[in-house]
Amino acid sequence: MCQPPCHFVSNEICMMMSVPRWMLLICSLVVVVTYSSQESLQRYLANRQAVVQKESSHRTGGSLKLNSKELRVNQYLMTVKAKEYAAALQGAPFPPAQHFFKSKNLIEKSEVFQLIQLLPKGAALHLHDISITSLNWVIKNATYKADLYFCVSTDAAGSLQFEFFSVPPTVKESSCAVLWQSVSLARNKQGAAVFDEWLFNKMSMWTDDDPKKVYPNSTAAWQKFESSLGPVYDLVRNIGVFEPYLWQAMTEFIQDNVQYMEIRGLLPPLKTSNGTQLSRNYTMQKYATIFDKFVSAYPGNFSGAKYIFSSKRHVAEEIVKSDVSLALSLRDTYPDHFAGYDLVGREDAGYPLIHFIQELLLPSQLNRSLPYFFHAGETDWEGTSIDENLIDALLLNTSRIGHGYAITKHPVAMAMALSQDTAIEVNPISNQVLGLVDDLRNHPAATLISQGFPVVISSDDPATWNAGQLSYDFYQAFMGLAGEQADLATLKQLAQDSIRYSAMSNSEKKAAMQLWQKKWDSFLDEILSSIK
Ligand SMILES: *[C@@H]1O[C@H](CO)[C@@H](O)[C@H](O)[C@H]1NC(C)=O
Ligand SMILES: *[C@@H]1O[C@H](CO)[C@@H](O)[C@H](O)[C@H]1NC(C)=O
Ligand SMILES: *[C@@H]1O[C@H](CO)[C@@H](O)[C@H](O)[C@H]1NC(C)=O
Ligand SMILES: *[C@@H]1O[C@H](CO)[C@@H](O)[C@H](O)[C@H]1NC(C)=O
Ligand SMILES: *[C@@H]1O[C@H](CO)[C@@H](O)[C@H](O)[C@H]1NC(C)=O
Ligand SMILES: *[C@@H]1O[C@H](CO)[C@@H](O)[C@H](O)[C@H]1NC(C)=O
Ligand SMILES: *[C@@H]1O[C@H](CO)[C@@H](O)[C@H](O)[C@H]1NC(C)=O
Ligand SMILES: [Zn+2]
Repeated sequence: MCQPPCHFVSNEICMMMSVPRWMLLICSLVVVVTYSSQESLQRYLANRQAVVQKESSHRTGGSLKLNSKELRVNQYLMTVKAKEYAAALQGAPFPPAQHFFKSKNLIEKSEVFQLIQLLPKGAALHLHDISITSLNWVIKNATYKADLYFCVSTDAAGSLQFEFFSVPPTVKESSCAVLWQSVSLARNKQGAAVFDEWLFNKMSMWTDDDPKKVYPNSTAAWQKFESSLGPVYDLVRNIGVFEPYLWQAMTEFIQDNVQYMEIRGLLPPLKTSNGTQLSRNYTMQKYATIFDKFVSAYPGNFSGAKYIFSSKRHVAEEIVKSDVSLALSLRDTYPDHFAGYDLVGREDAGYPLIHFIQELLLPSQLNRSLPYFFHAGETDWEGTSIDENLIDALLLNTSRIGHGYAITKHPVAMAMALSQDTAIEVNPISNQVLGLVDDLRNHPAATLISQGFPVVISSDDPATWNAGQLSYDFYQAFMGLAGEQADLATLKQLAQDSIRYSAMSNSEKKAAMQLWQKKWDSFLDEILSSIK
C-alpha cells in the first residue's frame, strides 16, 4: 500500500504542476491505482528524481548555470570533493566535524582547500580590526619596535598589556601585576624563540592540547578570546604600528584572493610616540587614507575597504548615544569609507539591543540615515533577551546580521530577513572555536544554505585562532555546511553574494563585480591548465 513518502512525492508533483490543493488527494489516489507495478516503479523513480532536483535547485548557487569552462573545473572539484567525502565515510577524520585546532593540518592537505585558496572569494564582510593580521607578523614586526614595554594584568586570565614609553614609569600601574618591563630586555634575557612563543600564547587562542579540555565551555573560550585581543589593541593604536599593521592585513587578504573588506572596530584613538591621544575622527581619516592608498597600490587586486564603527555592548547608554552621534557625523565626512554602526562583545554577557533602543532610534528620529550591521543571535540560548536581538536588529533595518546563529529558531525573523533581503554573516570557525557548535555539519547555516537563504561567509577574528584569512572558513562552509552535492555554482554564488550584500554603492559594486569576473576567468584558466 501507499506509504507516506509516496503520498508526499505525488503531492509534490501535483504542486509542481500547480494543481489546486483540493485535488492533491485525488492525485495521489490516481498514482496508486492506475499504474502497474513496473510503471509505478518508473513513475516513483521519476518523481523521486524530480524532488531531488528541486531540492538541489533551492541550494545557494542552485539556480546558477555553469558555462563549459566552469563545468570542466567543476568536474575536477567534484571529483576531489567526492574523494574526501568517501575517505571520511570510511572513517578518516572529516575536518568540519573536528575542532579547528585539530583539523587545520588536515585542511591544508585537502585538494578542495587548495582550490578554494585560489578561488576569487570576493569580499570578507565580517572582520574585526585587531584580529585580521597574522600574529606572526604582529610579533615579528610590531613587538620588535623600540621603546615597547609590557606587563601582565591582575585579571583572571593574566592578560598581557603593551605600552610605548620613551621613559617608563617607575610606579606600578594599577591594572598591572608588576612594573612595566622592556620587551627587548626580556626577549634578550629569555631568548627570542622562547619569548616570542610566550607572546603568541598570550595573544592567541591556539593550543596544541585538547581544545575541549582547555576550553570546556563558551565562557572559558570567550575569556581567553578577549584576553588575547587586548595586547593587539595596545599595539595597533600606536601611530607607528597602525598603518603597517593595516597594510599587512590587506596584503594577506589579497594573497588569499579576497578583493574587498568591511572591517569593524572601536575606532581606537591613536597614540603618538610622546603619548598624546588623537581623536577618533583622526583614526577614521587614517583608515580612509590607507584604504585608498592600498587600492592605488593594487588596482588589479583590490576594490577597497570600508569601516563599521562599533561600541562595546556592555557600556552605558550615554556612551552609545554619543557614539551614534559620532557615527552620524563620520558618515557625512567619510561617505565612501564609513559604512555604519554595530555593537560588539559577547552577546551573552553584554546588554541586548533593546536596552539601547532610545539611542538606536535616534537617527530615524532625526530623519537621518545610519546603516546598522548588528551582531545578533550569536547564542545557543533560545528565548533569552540575547536571542531576541535578532528581532530588534531586523526592526532597526540592519543591513546585514552578524552571525545570526539563532535565526533558524525564529520563523518570523527569518521571513523578515528574507523580505528585507538581509544577509546573514556566517563565520563557521568562530562559532566552533567560541563554543556554539562542535561539528559544523550541525551548524544552523547548513539549513540556510540548503534553502538559498542570503548568507555571506566570513572569518570574524581569524588571527586570534590562527585561521588565515578567508579560505579556511570557505572550506568549512563548502564541505561542512553545504553538503556533498554543493558544487562550483555554490562557491560562485557565495563569492558574488559577498559583493552584492556589501555596503558598496551600486557603482562600486558594479566595478567590484567586473574585477571579480576578471579574476574568476583567470582562476578557471589556471585550474584548467593545472589539471590537463
Ligand atoms: C615592519 O613592517 C614594515 C612594513 O611592512 C617594514 O617597513 C618594517 O621594516 C618592518 N619592521 C620590522 C622590525 O620587521
Ligand atoms: C566553564 O569552564 C570553567 C573551567 O575553565 C569552569 O570553571 C566554569 O565553571 C564553567 N562554566 C560553566 C558555565 O559551565
Ligand atoms: C594581483 O593581480 C595580478 C594580476 O592582475 C596577479 O598576477 C597577482 O598575482 C595578484 N597578486 C595577488 C597578491 O593576488
Ligand atoms: C606630541 O607630539 C605631537 C606630534 O606628534 C605634538 O603635536 C605634541 O605637541 C607633542 N606633545 C608633547 C606633550 O610633547
Ligand atoms: C572630522 O574631521 C574633518 C576634517 O578633518 C571635519 O570636516 C569633520 O567635521 C570632523 N568630524 C568630527 C566628528 O569631528
Ligand atoms: C526626511 O529626509 C528626506 C530626505 O533625506 C526628505 O525627503 C523627507 O522630506 C524628510 N522627512 C521629514 C519628515 O523631515
Ligand atoms: C525600517 O524601514 C521601514 C521600511 O522602510 C520603515 O518604515 C521603518 O521606519 C524603519 N525603521 C527604522 C527604525 O528606521
Ligand atoms: Zn564579530
